[in-house]
Amino acid sequence: MSGASPNFKVGGEGFLSCSFPEKGLVVPRELSLAEIFQIGYYWETKILLTAIKLDLFSALDGRSDSPSDLAKRLSLDERALSLVLHALVAMRILTKHEGRFANTSVARKHLVKVSPDYVGHLLVLHDSEWMNWGKLEEAVRTGASPVRQHVFETDPEMGANVLAVLDRIGRGSGVTLAKVLQLNGVDRMRMLDVGGGAGTNAIAFCREYPHLSATVFDLPATLQVTERSIKEAGLEDRIAVMPGNFNTDSLGGLYDLVLLSDVLHYQDAQANAALVRKAFAHLADAGRLVIKDRFLDPDRTSPAWTTAFAVHILVNTEQGDCFTTREAMDWMTRAGFSSVTELEPRAIVQGIKGSSNQERIQ
Ligand SMILES: C[S@@+](CC[C@H](N)C(=O)[O-])C[C@H]1O[C@@H](n2cnc3c(N)ncnc32)[C@H](O)[C@@H]1O
Repeated sequence: MSGASPNFKVGGEGFLSCSFPEKGLVVPRELSLAEIFQIGYYWETKILLTAIKLDLFSALDGRSDSPSDLAKRLSLDERALSLVLHALVAMRILTKHEGRFANTSVARKHLVKVSPDYVGHLLVLHDSEWMNWGKLEEAVRTGASPVRQHVFETDPEMGANVLAVLDRIGRGSGVTLAKVLQLNGVDRMRMLDVGGGAGTNAIAFCREYPHLSATVFDLPATLQVTERSIKEAGLEDRIAVMPGNFNTDSLGGLYDLVLLSDVLHYQDAQANAALVRKAFAHLADAGRLVIKDRFLDPDRTSPAWTTAFAVHILVNTEQGDCFTTREAMDWMTRAGFSSVTELEPRAIVQGIKGSSNQERIQ
């Protein structure tokens, strides 16, 4: 490698790389001890999650407080609270002037409950999963997950709150997906969004394609959020909801498009293969199944975020997993789809049902 001048940088995935531009090479560099410690010390994570759980940022909305005033207002221990507040200043989430603490602009925008851009529900979910993470060692020793079901089944209210946040921060991704799919060529297209959550994708798709109508299929508790979102979007006449369990209930149909977006990582490969077969049976001739998910590369060491997400899924679902696009494409091929393609690496795969292989709905 002599003669090349390396540049070190942190990539989009927090991936430390050393590039040699003259040779067109990007080589991951080893971590320093300081970086290992930075990963291992989760202290700041728990400080932030606890502050959100205690709703400190809402309590500081539009005011500044001393630790003693804030402790009195929230019935907290002054000394312990003071330590947390000082750490939050060092973490650049609060400010401190003359002994009084206040929100930074990012805290005001995203961590105060009444803000329209509040994301705390998502972080409260992570806090609630703390005990599950504490059982990672046991899961690795025994292979047994610490939980029996996933959050949408065990705590529908928390699931719904999280979906509302994901809906808000994910609107752009629904639009992008709709554009990528280029849904032209069918006059009155019928879409089924399986495990459609808050309806983010169904809404984005209907806005993008006036000839499309959609059904959002999801667990009954989740659909309360979905109905709200559909109403807010003014799309009640084009988007219906269908309550049920996609593993055991009929999906209705026929449809021209079935979407499975961020759903398959809650289940194992066998359940997913069965769901793909079910989707196939509910598609009209030339209809397509689109699966969007967090897929791994074939060697399963990247994308970095997804490798850690797979461990998160291990401890927070009973049988979930992260898969490669190849595995998802195999489920489609084995279900009978005649054309199976990867539309976006590690993100979107599509299967088209040939006109000759229409099957009876199960
Ligand atoms: C991570 S969310 C994805 C939401 C949406 N598809 C999106 O991409 O924004 C997973 C969704 O799957 C739903 N879900 C999970 N298991 C289900 C089941 N067995 N039957 C129906 N819906 C289910 C959850 O209620 C939740 O809305």
